[in-house]
Amino acid sequence: PLVSMNEFLPKAKANKFAVGQFNMNNLEFAKAITEAAMAEKSPFIFGVSEGALKYMGIEYTVAIAEAAAKQSGLPIALHLDHGSTFEVAMKCIRAGFSSVMFDGSHHSFEDNIRLTKEVVKAARAMGVSVEGELGTIGGVEDDISVDEADAALAKPEEAIRFYEETGVDCVAIAVGTAHGMYKGEVKIRYDIIEEVAKAIPVPVVLHGGSGVPDEAIRLSIAAGVGKINVNTENQVACTEAIREVLNKDAKVYDPRKYLTPAKNAMVEVVRSKIQLFGSSNQA
Ligand code: G3H
Ligand code: ZN
Repeated sequence: PLVSMNEFLPKAKANKFAVGQFNMNNLEFAKAITEAAMAEKSPFIFGVSEGALKYMGIEYTVAIAEAAAKQSGLPIALHLDHGSTFEVAMKCIRAGFSSVMFDGSHHSFEDNIRLTKEVVKAARAMGVSVEGELGTIGGVEDDISVDEADAALAKPEEAIRFYEETGVDCVAIAVGTAHGMYKGEVKIRYDIIEEVAKAIPVPVVLHGGSGVPDEAIRLSIAAGVGKINVNTENQVACTEAIREVLNKDAKVYDPRKYLTPAKNAMVEVVRSKIQLFGSSNQA
């Protein structure tokens, strides 16, 4: 069965590794992520954005994740990514999600606390874990787009108070990463990660994990990151593999001929991330 993130996040925090959230966008993503995690014997999180949920349909999404858990025997959490309302979080929980993110970062600090608390109260009663967010992460993901100028780093004191008042199971804080591909160099504020992680018993979450150099990921984990989200790198690997097949052969018509290489390319991405995050053999 699908498990809540509390099945593995406390161990990640204690042993200084990070569990990957790999976003699921279709069946090929789900199979690639599961295959990679099985080869690495790693726990993982299927992230599903509201856009991906609309695309796949909620019943298919839950059925695919449950099949992956059953087939792999791995601890897998099915997690709503950047949930925007209490209602969508409840809809996911009712449908079988084992974890939800409530992203109240576009509200005022006080409203973010109040709204996140409501989700935590309902989710906890169902054994479902909750991720909250503080500060604004830049870049584009599905329907959410934040200008670089509007991206705001999290204030450590606020992040700590946010945890204390909401009781979330992990906290995403804006520390310099962005959603999507990076234009320039990523500058991560390890000092903010460390100050927050030291003061709270749950891990810090790093969003926008695609395109972050390996060394920056290692330093982030050492500073207290215990969950890392990756989506764009898999999307790029998938599409590049498909493009390669189509460019080589104008007569190909069987989708399996280009979706199989696409899946295999994503297996490679996910395996290398799992190794980098240190979650191999932690299942
Ligand atoms: O919530 C999802 C992640 O933060 C994905 O970010 O597409 O830059 O890897 P990414
Ligand atoms: Zn994100």
